[in-house]
Amino acid sequence: MCGIVGYVGEENASAHLLAGLSKLEYRGYDSAGIVTYFENSFQLFKTIGKLENLIKETDDGKLAGGSIGIGHTRWATHGKPSRENAHPHLGHRFALVHNGIIENEAEIKKKYLKGIDFKSKTDSEKVVWLLEKFVSEGEDVVSAIKHIMAELEGSYALGIMDLLNPDTLYAVKNKSPLLIGKGEGFNMLGSDMGAMLEKTNKFFEIADKEFAVITKDKIKIFTSYGKEIKKEPFEAHLDPEDIQKGAYPHYMLKEIEEQPSVIRRIIKEYSMPDGTLKINEKICNDIKKADKIYIIACGTSYHAALVGRVYFEKIAGKAADAFIASEFKTNMPRLSKKPIFIFISQSGETADMRAAFVNIKEMGYKSIALTNTPGSTLYREADHALLLYAGAEIAVASTKAYTAQLALLSIMAASVKNLIAINLKRELSLAANVIEGLCLEKEKYKLLAQEYLLEKDHCFYIGRGLDYYSSLEASLKLKEISYIHTEGFPAGELKHGPIALIEKGTPVIAIITQENINLNTRSNIKEVKSRGAKVLSVSLKGISSHKDSIVIDDVHEFLSPLVSIVPAHFLTYYAALQKGCDIDKPRNLAKSVTVE
Ligand code: M6R
Repeated sequence: MCGIVGYVGEENASAHLLAGLSKLEYRGYDSAGIVTYFENSFQLFKTIGKLENLIKETDDGKLAGGSIGIGHTRWATHGKPSRENAHPHLGHRFALVHNGIIENEAEIKKKYLKGIDFKSKTDSEKVVWLLEKFVSEGEDVVSAIKHIMAELEGSYALGIMDLLNPDTLYAVKNKSPLLIGKGEGFNMLGSDMGAMLEKTNKFFEIADKEFAVITKDKIKIFTSYGKEIKKEPFEAHLDPEDIQKGAYPHYMLKEIEEQPSVIRRIIKEYSMPDGTLKINEKICNDIKKADKIYIIACGTSYHAALVGRVYFEKIAGKAADAFIASEFKTNMPRLSKKPIFIFISQSGETADMRAAFVNIKEMGYKSIALTNTPGSTLYREADHALLLYAGAEIAVASTKAYTAQLALLSIMAASVKNLIAINLKRELSLAANVIEGLCLEKEKYKLLAQEYLLEKDHCFYIGRGLDYYSSLEASLKLKEISYIHTEGFPAGELKHGPIALIEKGTPVIAIITQENINLNTRSNIKEVKSRGAKVLSVSLKGISSHKDSIVIDDVHEFLSPLVSIVPAHFLTYYAALQKGCDIDKPRNLAKSVTVE
């Protein structure tokens, strides 16, 4: 979703802004802009479409002079993608970029901004004019910032520049991610550390309802009441190399193929000196003390939560349930007496997840974060944090982070039970090897995608038990990247309705990895076949049939979701490739969904 970057220093600001914005592209956007200060005025450039348009428009940044500036990639919410609606927005004296949603935009407009000729349809432009208004009434900039914070409702990360203080950037935050990057002779701000990582790995966190005044040598952070807060910077250990595609045509393909190494990294990070895999004792004890585990997440992370629920119940013997974050917030279930909450989020910034998180934090319950992003809001604010160690995941479609989530959840469940019955280290290593083998069969998936999915408008994934959860995840992947309408169904539920959708040639992909449901799912395959479906079955070797198109080497039954999803990743990738889709940046989607 929208991205922010800001720079104040001695070098050409536009080069750093454009470089920073290019690192935010993966989040999804439909327009981009930068503003710099040069020779007593703002130099504003905005374009719709890809960042390369902005790079061209600024002649690679050369046309925007100056050593201070702010930039933005916009993912439209209020107002269509257009040059006018793109950020930065200018008032008379201020320039502003905004991520988030101002919920009381209409009230603000009515109360304070009558008669203003707005140039855009955005809520963000109202903020710059609100600032102008308070300053024009005699407030200094800092007082006006405190004043707008008191007035604005909703989520906002703001980057602000002032024509009359052209050596200063202002950063303001509530509910939307924003960090300050600390450099030598320069400072930056960004909605994502990736935007600043080439320049610095030291960051200051700004909490909700705080703001910062940033010059090239100083960073001062304040509460919304104006009290200065002393903070220490933290260091991030993300490798900027991770953010490169290398020889791969798409990040998605690179990330699919990184899954074996991600599992091996998790094994390394969670290995104890005695050779077993365990999570931290304190976290384990907190889970043991709880009477029920509530796992909360969105999208792919929610599908990992569904598998996690089974791990906690079957491996650890603990009551557990999984919830979609936005639904949990809207319709919170009656909680058990001693609940503990696990929040799963690759980015650690997803707004729906955070809204549920803030609720349970206010209720005083303990939380554990599973995230891939050290330094993210979830990582910083949860009582405990466990890292996924998947490396930067850039493609919008989550692949390697999902496998990492499953691997880590299995380690958590086994740790809670002190389980040595399963040699988890060996079983996870085996799963990594099996995935490596699957990655060697790309030609086969390419042909299967062509045979089963090309020129199809609908597709169904089916499975039972853990395979049903894999079906949900596989269908999410296929729909988001290839735009083929795909649903995941419990195989046993088909006959209760969805089977009506099966026609001659409808692709049905069946996942069969559990011995206890093998025969049942195979009967469901017969049901759809007899109604004309074109069935592609994926099974584990031990329970395979000669009719299965994809047979995966055996892994421990609990770990089958880690391997059975990989053919689905490849089928999705090749289906999208054959259809000519924008694989890493699918339409309408954003990597980090920072609005509710
Ligand atoms: O960063 P998160 O794990 O919180 O993201 C949650 C979902 O937005 C995300 O998994 C989304 O469903 C992916 N695009 C799926 O590929």
